[in-house]
Amino acid sequence: MLKGEGLNYIFDIGKPSEFQALRDVSVQFGDKKLYGILGPSGSGKSSLLYLLSGLRKPTKGRVLFDNNDIWSLKSNELAEFRNKNFGFVFQRHFLINYLTALENVLVPVNKDFKKYEGRAKELLCDLGLESCIKKKPFEMSGGQRQRVAIARALINEPKIIFGDEPTASLDHENAIAVMEFLNSYKNHATIIVVTHDQSILKEADGQIRIIDGSLKEGDL
Ligand SMILES: Nc1ncnc2c1ncn2[C@@H]1O[C@H](COP(=O)(O)OP(=O)(O)OP(=O)(O)O)[C@@H](O)[C@H]1O
Ligand SMILES: [Mg+2]
Repeated sequence: MLKGEGLNYIFDIGKPSEFQALRDVSVQFGDKKLYGILGPSGSGKSSLLYLLSGLRKPTKGRVLFDNNDIWSLKSNELAEFRNKNFGFVFQRHFLINYLTALENVLVPVNKDFKKYEGRAKELLCDLGLESCIKKKPFEMSGGQRQRVAIARALINEPKIIFGDEPTASLDHENAIAVMEFLNSYKNHATIIVVTHDQSILKEADGQIRIIDGSLKEGDL
Protein backbone atom coordinates (compact mmCIF):
# COMPACT_ATOMS: atom_id res chain seq x y z
CA MET A 1 0.00 0.00 0.00
CA LEU A 2 1.32 3.42 -1.02
CA LYS A 3 0.19 6.62 0.62
CA GLY A 4 1.00 10.28 0.12
CA GLU A 5 0.20 12.49 3.12
CA GLY A 6 -0.08 16.26 2.78
CA LEU A 7 2.38 16.42 -0.10
CA ASN A 8 3.73 19.82 -1.06
CA TYR A 9 6.42 20.57 -3.59
CA ILE A 10 8.00 23.96 -4.18
CA PHE A 11 10.56 24.60 -6.91
CA ASP A 12 13.33 27.18 -6.34
CA ILE A 13 12.44 28.03 -2.73
CA GLY A 14 13.44 31.56 -1.78
CA LYS A 15 14.21 32.64 -5.35
CA PRO A 16 12.11 35.03 -7.45
CA SER A 17 11.21 31.98 -9.59
CA GLU A 18 9.75 30.13 -6.58
CA PHE A 19 6.80 28.03 -7.70
CA GLN A 20 4.50 25.72 -5.77
CA ALA A 21 3.80 22.70 -7.98
CA LEU A 22 1.83 20.68 -5.40
CA ARG A 23 -0.35 21.73 -2.47
CA ASP A 24 -1.44 19.41 0.35
CA VAL A 25 -2.07 16.39 -1.83
CA SER A 26 -3.11 13.28 0.11
CA VAL A 27 -3.64 10.08 -1.85
CA GLN A 28 -3.81 6.37 -1.18
CA PHE A 29 -3.23 3.49 -3.58
CA GLY A 30 -4.32 -0.08 -2.82
CA ASP A 31 -2.37 -3.20 -3.72
CA LYS A 32 -2.69 -4.77 -7.15
CA LYS A 33 -4.79 -2.07 -8.74
CA LEU A 34 -4.47 0.26 -11.72
CA TYR A 35 -4.74 4.01 -11.16
CA GLY A 36 -4.72 6.94 -13.53
CA ILE A 37 -3.48 10.45 -12.73
CA LEU A 38 -5.13 13.03 -14.96
CA GLY A 39 -5.05 16.79 -15.32
CA PRO A 40 -4.07 19.64 -17.63
CA SER A 41 -0.49 20.25 -18.74
CA GLY A 42 1.54 21.89 -15.96
CA SER A 43 -0.93 20.87 -13.23
CA GLY A 44 1.66 18.83 -11.28
CA LYS A 45 1.10 15.21 -12.41
CA SER A 46 4.74 14.38 -13.08
CA SER A 47 5.76 16.15 -9.87
CA LEU A 48 3.32 14.00 -7.89
CA LEU A 49 4.62 10.83 -9.54
CA TYR A 50 8.23 11.79 -8.74
CA LEU A 51 7.38 12.39 -5.08
CA LEU A 52 5.42 9.16 -4.74
CA SER A 53 8.19 7.15 -6.36
CA GLY A 54 10.98 8.56 -4.21
CA LEU A 55 12.74 10.34 -7.06
CA ARG A 56 12.12 13.78 -5.54
CA LYS A 57 11.83 14.75 -1.89
CA PRO A 58 8.60 16.48 -0.83
CA THR A 59 9.06 20.02 0.49
CA LYS A 60 6.47 19.02 3.09
CA GLY A 61 4.51 15.80 3.67
CA ARG A 62 5.30 12.10 3.75
CA VAL A 63 5.28 9.13 1.41
CA LEU A 64 4.46 5.87 3.16
CA PHE A 65 5.01 2.45 1.69
CA ASP A 66 3.43 -0.26 3.87
CA ASN A 67 3.33 2.39 6.61
CA ASN A 68 7.06 3.16 6.41
CA ASP A 69 8.16 6.68 5.54
CA ILE A 70 10.41 6.17 2.50
CA TRP A 71 12.15 9.51 3.05
CA SER A 72 13.37 8.38 6.48
CA LEU A 73 15.78 6.06 4.62
CA LYS A 74 19.37 7.15 3.91
CA SER A 75 19.91 8.00 0.25
CA ASN A 76 21.71 4.73 -0.60
CA GLU A 77 19.01 2.75 1.25
CA LEU A 78 16.31 4.64 -0.65
CA ALA A 79 18.03 3.90 -3.98
CA GLU A 80 18.16 0.22 -3.07
CA PHE A 81 14.54 0.27 -1.90
CA ARG A 82 13.43 1.91 -5.17
CA ASN A 83 15.37 -0.59 -7.22
CA LYS A 84 13.78 -3.49 -5.40
CA ASN A 85 10.19 -2.28 -5.21
CA PHE A 86 9.52 0.25 -7.97
CA GLY A 87 9.58 0.09 -11.77
CA PHE A 88 9.47 3.12 -14.07
CA VAL A 89 8.16 3.68 -17.58
CA PHE A 90 8.54 7.14 -19.07
CA GLN A 91 7.21 8.84 -22.18
CA ARG A 92 10.61 8.51 -23.79
CA HIS A 93 11.92 5.00 -23.55
CA PHE A 94 15.55 5.75 -22.54
CA LEU A 95 16.81 2.48 -23.98
CA ILE A 96 20.53 2.09 -24.57
CA ASN A 97 21.15 2.19 -28.30
CA TYR A 98 24.09 -0.18 -28.55
CA LEU A 99 22.39 -2.94 -26.52
CA THR A 100 19.86 -5.46 -27.84
CA ALA A 101 16.28 -5.57 -26.53
CA LEU A 102 17.21 -8.49 -24.27
CA GLU A 103 20.29 -6.72 -22.90
CA ASN A 104 18.29 -3.55 -22.30
CA VAL A 105 15.71 -5.46 -20.27
CA LEU A 106 18.52 -6.93 -18.17
CA VAL A 107 20.13 -3.56 -17.33
CA PRO A 108 18.39 -3.17 -13.92
CA VAL A 109 19.60 -6.63 -12.83
CA ASN A 110 23.11 -6.18 -14.15
CA LYS A 111 24.77 -8.34 -11.49
CA ASP A 112 22.37 -11.27 -11.81
CA PHE A 113 21.71 -11.19 -15.52
CA LYS A 114 22.21 -14.96 -15.92
CA LYS A 115 19.51 -15.63 -13.33
CA TYR A 116 17.06 -13.26 -15.04
CA GLU A 117 17.71 -14.07 -18.68
CA GLY A 118 14.85 -16.60 -18.93
CA ARG A 119 12.39 -14.20 -17.33
CA ALA A 120 13.51 -11.38 -19.63
CA LYS A 121 12.85 -13.52 -22.71
CA GLU A 122 9.47 -14.56 -21.30
CA LEU A 123 8.46 -10.92 -20.70
CA LEU A 124 9.52 -9.92 -24.22
CA CYS A 125 7.48 -12.79 -25.65
CA ASP A 126 4.44 -11.87 -23.49
CA LEU A 127 4.72 -8.37 -24.92
CA GLY A 128 4.71 -9.70 -28.46
CA LEU A 129 8.39 -9.00 -29.03
CA GLU A 130 9.80 -12.45 -29.76
CA SER A 131 11.18 -11.26 -33.09
CA CYS A 132 12.93 -8.29 -31.45
CA ILE A 133 14.95 -10.10 -28.77
CA LYS A 134 18.24 -9.59 -30.61
CA LYS A 135 17.36 -6.27 -32.23
CA LYS A 136 18.76 -2.93 -31.14
CA PRO A 137 16.43 0.01 -30.44
CA PHE A 138 17.07 1.70 -33.82
CA GLU A 139 15.91 -1.50 -35.55
CA MET A 140 12.52 -1.40 -33.79
CA SER A 141 9.36 0.68 -34.13
CA GLY A 142 8.33 3.21 -31.49
CA GLY A 143 5.70 0.86 -30.09
CA GLN A 144 8.17 -2.00 -29.89
CA ARG A 145 10.74 0.16 -28.11
CA GLN A 146 8.15 1.27 -25.58
CA ARG A 147 7.23 -2.36 -24.88
CA VAL A 148 10.92 -3.17 -24.33
CA ALA A 149 10.97 -0.34 -21.77
CA ILE A 150 7.97 -1.94 -20.06
CA ALA A 151 9.71 -5.32 -19.92
CA ARG A 152 12.72 -3.56 -18.39
CA ALA A 153 10.48 -1.96 -15.74
CA LEU A 154 9.03 -5.37 -14.85
CA ILE A 155 12.22 -7.44 -14.81
CA ASN A 156 12.77 -7.40 -11.06
CA GLU A 157 9.12 -7.90 -10.18
CA PRO A 158 8.44 -4.46 -8.71
CA LYS A 159 5.54 -3.98 -6.31
CA ILE A 160 4.62 -0.67 -7.94
CA ILE A 161 5.01 0.42 -11.55
CA PHE A 162 5.02 4.16 -12.20
CA GLY A 163 4.30 5.35 -15.72
CA ASP A 164 4.66 8.98 -16.79
CA GLU A 165 2.67 9.17 -20.03
CA PRO A 166 3.99 5.77 -21.14
CA THR A 167 1.69 5.74 -24.16
CA ALA A 168 2.06 9.38 -25.24
CA SER A 169 4.47 8.67 -28.10
CA LEU A 170 2.38 5.76 -29.43
CA ASP A 171 -0.50 5.58 -31.89
CA HIS A 172 -3.88 4.66 -30.43
CA GLU A 173 -3.61 0.96 -31.25
CA ASN A 174 -0.19 0.60 -29.63
CA ALA A 175 -1.33 2.72 -26.69
CA ILE A 176 -4.27 0.37 -26.10
CA ALA A 177 -1.98 -2.69 -26.39
CA VAL A 178 0.42 -1.22 -23.82
CA MET A 179 -2.39 -0.32 -21.40
CA GLU A 180 -3.95 -3.76 -21.81
CA PHE A 181 -0.64 -5.36 -20.95
CA LEU A 182 -0.20 -3.14 -17.90
CA ASN A 183 -3.75 -3.91 -16.85
CA SER A 184 -3.14 -7.65 -17.18
CA TYR A 185 -0.12 -7.20 -14.93
CA LYS A 186 -2.35 -5.99 -12.09
CA ASN A 187 -2.35 -9.31 -10.27
CA HIS A 188 1.39 -8.83 -9.73
CA ALA A 189 1.73 -5.14 -8.96
CA THR A 190 0.06 -1.78 -8.41
CA ILE A 191 0.24 0.40 -11.50
CA ILE A 192 0.05 4.20 -11.37
CA VAL A 193 0.05 6.03 -14.70
CA VAL A 194 -0.06 9.68 -15.63
CA THR A 195 -1.92 10.19 -18.87
CA HIS A 196 -3.84 12.75 -20.89
CA ASP A 197 -5.86 10.03 -22.54
CA GLN A 198 -9.09 9.10 -20.72
CA SER A 199 -9.90 6.35 -23.18
CA ILE A 200 -6.90 4.24 -22.21
CA LEU A 201 -8.05 4.24 -18.60
CA LYS A 202 -11.28 2.30 -19.14
CA GLU A 203 -9.97 -0.55 -17.02
CA ALA A 204 -8.60 1.63 -14.21
CA ASP A 205 -9.70 0.95 -10.62
CA GLY A 206 -9.38 4.60 -9.69
CA GLN A 207 -8.52 7.98 -11.12
CA ILE A 208 -7.21 11.12 -9.52
CA ARG A 209 -7.30 14.54 -11.06
CA ILE A 210 -4.78 17.27 -10.33
CA ILE A 211 -5.59 20.89 -11.08
CA ASP A 212 -3.12 23.70 -10.32
CA GLY A 213 -1.21 21.44 -7.94
CA SER A 214 -4.25 20.39 -5.90
CA LEU A 215 -6.25 17.21 -5.84
CA LYS A 216 -9.71 17.75 -7.21
CA GLU A 217 -12.32 17.00 -4.55
CA GLY A 218 -14.21 13.77 -4.84
CA ASP A 219 -11.44 11.59 -6.25
CA LEU A 220 -9.69 8.87 -4.21
N1 LIG B 1 12.43 22.48 -12.67
C1 LIG B 1 11.40 23.27 -12.52
N2 LIG B 1 11.55 24.50 -12.01
C2 LIG B 1 10.48 25.33 -11.81
N3 LIG B 1 9.19 24.98 -12.10
C3 LIG B 1 9.00 23.77 -12.62
C4 LIG B 1 10.08 22.85 -12.85
N4 LIG B 1 9.55 21.70 -13.37
C5 LIG B 1 8.23 21.91 -13.46
N5 LIG B 1 7.89 23.13 -13.00
C6 LIG B 1 6.52 23.70 -12.93
O1 LIG B 1 5.75 22.92 -12.03
C7 LIG B 1 4.43 22.73 -12.54
C8 LIG B 1 4.08 21.25 -12.55
O2 LIG B 1 4.96 20.59 -13.47
P1 LIG B 1 4.72 19.06 -13.84
O3 LIG B 1 5.88 18.67 -14.70
O4 LIG B 1 4.52 18.29 -12.60
O5 LIG B 1 3.36 19.14 -14.67
P2 LIG B 1 2.56 18.02 -15.46
O6 LIG B 1 1.18 17.99 -14.92
O7 LIG B 1 3.33 16.75 -15.45
O8 LIG B 1 2.51 18.62 -16.94
P3 LIG B 1 2.58 17.87 -18.38
O9 LIG B 1 1.23 17.27 -18.60
O10 LIG B 1 2.83 19.00 -19.33
O11 LIG B 1 3.70 16.88 -18.33
C9 LIG B 1 4.40 23.38 -13.92
O12 LIG B 1 3.68 24.57 -13.85
C10 LIG B 1 5.84 23.61 -14.27
O13 LIG B 1 6.00 24.79 -15.01
MG1 LIG C 1 4.36 15.66 -16.94
